[in-house]
Amino acid sequence: MAKPLLGYLDAAFIAILDELVTMLKIAYRRPDGLTIPLSSTGTSAMEAGIAALTEPGDTLIVGIAGYFGRRIAEIATRHGVQVVEAVSTPGDQVSIEDVLELLNAHPEARLVALVHAETSAGVRQQLGELSRALAFGDTLLMVDCVTSFAGNELEPANWSIDYAYSCTQKCLGAPPGMAPVTLSERAMERIRSRHAPTPFTLDFERLARYWVERPAAYHHTPPALNVYALHEALRLLLEEGLEQRWTRHTIAGRRLQAGLEELGLQLLANEESRLPQLTAVQVPEGIDGRAVQRELLDQHGLEIGGGLDASAPPIWRIGLMGPNATPATADRVLDAFETVLAQHASLTTKSRR
Ligand SMILES: Cc1ncc(COP(=O)(O)O)c(C=O)c1O
Repeated sequence: MAKPLLGYLDAAFIAILDELVTMLKIAYRRPDGLTIPLSSTGTSAMEAGIAALTEPGDTLIVGIAGYFGRRIAEIATRHGVQVVEAVSTPGDQVSIEDVLELLNAHPEARLVALVHAETSAGVRQQLGELSRALAFGDTLLMVDCVTSFAGNELEPANWSIDYAYSCTQKCLGAPPGMAPVTLSERAMERIRSRHAPTPFTLDFERLARYWVERPAAYHHTPPALNVYALHEALRLLLEEGLEQRWTRHTIAGRRLQAGLEELGLQLLANEESRLPQLTAVQVPEGIDGRAVQRELLDQHGLEIGGGLDASAPPIWRIGLMGPNATPATADRVLDAFETVLAQHASLTTKSRR
């Protein structure tokens, strides 16, 4: 990111874009359709999918296992879409049987949306039978892969995902500011046959003319430094290997989770729905969760999250993503937690090693 800024149509910059898109297609494992980064946040990529794949009055079925599922519902409602919700029990993933039942009851649904890795609760969503059910027909599948991309197994083409979106600041380990997305051929066909126009900034056909078609046609000025950073993050991902990166996240996350349980702490997500890269920990009775967060930051240089809104139970959220997904970081977090919690309460601590 310290390299000189290049103009958005400079031949050297276009060569970087071409390499970036090639790497992104490998990382998303989708050779066809359209795979590009948006110059946007993860939330804008969420909105881009809803804006492109639905029209006002359409029906959307959304699976809600936490804050980001609710955000999909809110954005869709603002776009005049009829939202039908399948809500999970707290700490669990959305039941695919429930989604399939809603699909039966609403055959007119144009889109099903799920959050693959629900960062607010540390919950991982499996798609199960849904992929097969949606492989043919008119209902498309949109999956929020903000936290799962480069962290968990993800096969958009094999799983019939028509629109997957992510962002740079999670398991890719790059600075925030860009949102890698991938669309299936079916999704592009839906976009081409729309009646209502798409918002100009989120127009995937226009974006393709800049990011993929050559000569490149101006659509907007991309953030050049973030493009360099994403290019490098993808290069590092492919150098490490996609599957090796998934495994690294799993090993680090499981080590952290086992250690937290040995400290006597309870995790929010059920074991079978637990994400490795984001662990939600229940704040024990009588402990001031925010004070613990502050002390972890001030005394140990570790920033962890809390609940994302007032409806969240008292939790801490610990992310081990990108370069932080290592056993060494997991141990550092555990040591810091043990020290800070000991100052706060006499938890029954067992030795973890
Ligand atoms: C699952 C999920 N979806 C969407 C978003 C929104 O991404 P952004 O904050 O980049 O807008 C986040 C952010 O943490 C997320 O975790």
